Amino acid sequence: MPDHYSTGFGNEFATEAIPDALPVGQNAPQKSPLGLYTEQLSGTPFTAPRHLNRRTWTYRIRPSVMHKPYERIPNGLIRSTPFNEIETPPNQLRWDPIPLPTKPTDFIDGLVTLAGNGDSTLHTGAAIHLYVANQSMTDRFFYTADGELLFVPQLGCLLLHTELGIIDLAPGEIALIPRGIKFRIELLDKQARGYLLENYGQPFRLPDLGPIGANGLANTRDFLTPYASFEDRDRGTFQVVAKFLGNLWATDFDHSPLDVVAWHGNYAPCKYDLARFNCINSVSFDHPDPSIYTVLTSPSEIPGTANVDFAIFPPRWIVAEHTFRPPWFHRNFMNEFMGLIQGEYDAKAEGFVPGGASLHNCMSGHGPDAETFERASTADLKPVKLEGTLAFMFETRFACRPTKFAMDTAALQHEYYTCWQTLKKNFHPE
Ligand SMILES: [Fe+2]
Repeated sequence: MPDHYSTGFGNEFATEAIPDALPVGQNAPQKSPLGLYTEQLSGTPFTAPRHLNRRTWTYRIRPSVMHKPYERIPNGLIRSTPFNEIETPPNQLRWDPIPLPTKPTDFIDGLVTLAGNGDSTLHTGAAIHLYVANQSMTDRFFYTADGELLFVPQLGCLLLHTELGIIDLAPGEIALIPRGIKFRIELLDKQARGYLLENYGQPFRLPDLGPIGANGLANTRDFLTPYASFEDRDRGTFQVVAKFLGNLWATDFDHSPLDVVAWHGNYAPCKYDLARFNCINSVSFDHPDPSIYTVLTSPSEIPGTANVDFAIFPPRWIVAEHTFRPPWFHRNFMNEFMGLIQGEYDAKAEGFVPGGASLHNCMSGHGPDAETFERASTADLKPVKLEGTLAFMFETRFACRPTKFAMDTAALQHEYYTCWQTLKKNFHPE
């Protein structure tokens, strides 16, 4: 298990798996130390402003170019822009967890796209995938050129073996793998299931804190980036699956592509324990908008209008006086995809379970179900601690368009709308 991480988010890291593998004082010497090849990986245009510029210099056993041509393979249930398989209804949508596989299934085999928006070729929007798996990837690797990957595991611990190091990941944690970085996933438990956001837009960053000040929400020091770790394997064949312009392509390498012995830069995978989130909320009355729960944001070119935000609803004290404490009824500009990692979500009495999902698109009314409304309207407003719960939201500026799979699967709850139909008319004009 990896036990060595550097702390920080998006800062300049330098790490070598073998002493003296990193060149000193320059990026590309005539001969790199230890007979390694030098290769730069740019995550932003060369000319991006300094505070947004992301790139990493790698020193590897073989350069990434050493492979045969990629050939198309079936996309399985992975979908990409333009997400026009079916018409998107304005209805509230909710899903049960999708079933765990019974046949041997690795992370790539078990990927299914539930919804998405924007255009990967224009670097806007995102795809929302689910993964299920019961097999590790050993000689199989994956990367996507279409976006950055945000892992939100719900069941089972994983080892993410990436080009830049190894991340151990458990439910309750998240991981980011930047666009283009190759990885394979090893299962540490018999089965795994989780949510996977493919962010086509600008890389996730920590949100500005405004009047909150210099500290709070997700703190920079709690993000962990792995030390360099490499595989020197060249017996057998190694299949690399690439996702490019929405399609899957595969080729064979004659060596493991995870052969980076040393690297330095600020374009790197990381993980974050959601229990470290410093949750800020009302200590008087009412509640702030859910943006107060933002962990990471991928901004768009319009100020305050995220391409996609990642927000969480973690265990926390609820103390607001003379207040309806769960989220009120609302209709929003932004589009809300929610998932549940564990426990219960305070706005729903039943039906929203760990591994499940809900989608409330632009201007679609939603909020507490009838049972929750009744309970929260009459609750004794003592301070209460919500425990053992962890829900999250991908909130995005474009409507999330479900895939055909999402609308055909038996996991879709066709009766979801009924949870609001028994709300009583309480109006008393006298
Ligand atoms: Fe909402």
